[in-house]
Amino acid sequence: MKVLLTGGAGFIGSNLAEEYIKAGYDVVVVDNLITGKQEHIHPMVKFYEVDICSQEFYDIAIKEKPDLINHHAANIDVQSSIKNPGLDAKINIIGTINVLEVCKELGVPLIYPSSAAVYGTPNYLGIDEKHEITPISNYGISKYTPEQYIRLYHNLYRVPYTIFRYANVYGMRQDPKGEGGVISVLMKSAIEGNSFNLYGDGKQTRDFIHVFDVVSANLLASAKPLNDVFNISTGKQTDLLQLINLVKETIHTQFPVNFMADRKGDIKHSFLLNDKFKKHVDWKPSVELLEGINMTYQYYLSQ
Ligand SMILES: NC(=O)c1ccc[n+]([C@@H]2O[C@H](COP(=O)([O-])OP(=O)(O)OC[C@H]3O[C@@H](n4cnc5c(N)ncnc54)[C@H](O)[C@@H]3O)[C@@H](O)[C@H]2O)c1
Repeated sequence: MKVLLTGGAGFIGSNLAEEYIKAGYDVVVVDNLITGKQEHIHPMVKFYEVDICSQEFYDIAIKEKPDLINHHAANIDVQSSIKNPGLDAKINIIGTINVLEVCKELGVPLIYPSSAAVYGTPNYLGIDEKHEITPISNYGISKYTPEQYIRLYHNLYRVPYTIFRYANVYGMRQDPKGEGGVISVLMKSAIEGNSFNLYGDGKQTRDFIHVFDVVSANLLASAKPLNDVFNISTGKQTDLLQLINLVKETIHTQFPVNFMADRKGDIKHSFLLNDKFKKHVDWKPSVELLEGINMTYQYYLSQ
């Protein structure tokens, strides 16, 4: 079984590549290394340094004839999506259309990671998949629009798919910026003893899911496309002040916290229900937050 994995040099993509290899897949990675890192690319994958928006990507993908495409390449930075909406839309929307054209031509399934950002400010918590879609950032729009294209390609051309909406993913190889980056930024502050910039009052809540649980969901969807959308989350909320204390306790260290003004596009509270995916497949999140923080800390220490 051959999988073409876009974004395989990035945080989630590189963890996914590792697990695909362990599971016996042939893995082809396409990544332009804009945020991904060469050293994160698994030695057993075939790697192309190419932009997903290009004709070259389309030609390579057709030539490689994968059995499945897992599309993790994206602009993931909410703040940069607000500063440069055109580029964000190009990568996340046009890039995904390019990927879908390959799926259509080859008749192969697509796995697409969408985001909790599509829901915007929640009308209720825990957010389920039926919640209204009202993004409050350009990133939220650019992650949702491809969902609609994917459903359209399924209806028109029978392209099988699974769409995931991830909560805040954390774990090893995460860059200390981007959507779920707060845990890696905290790790950096804790290890280097630098101050941590906290945007808002720290009472905002997030649903932190470890990358291993996200990867296991992807492996299940790779075996069988589900033609539906699923939240991938823990269903638990943690506020940022609690998170800071957890990190300080785990690492037995102190670092100063600077309280900064709220940022545009940031959601106050978010946690997602994961019941729908749990009902469809034999999956549940297995990494507790404390354990995940510990594993992530060990990783950053080793770097
Ligand atoms: N990290 C999270 O908490 C989170 C939450 C929800 C959804 N997601 C989604 O998961 C996916 C992976 O996120 P991540 O956190 O691993 O981000 P990441 O930035 O670590 O990985 C993205 C990868 O895509 C590559 N890339 C970007 N633009 C490209 C282009 N035009 N052509 C080729 N490669 C390109 C980057 O170099 C990088 O390696 C994204 O689609 C993101 O929207 C992430």
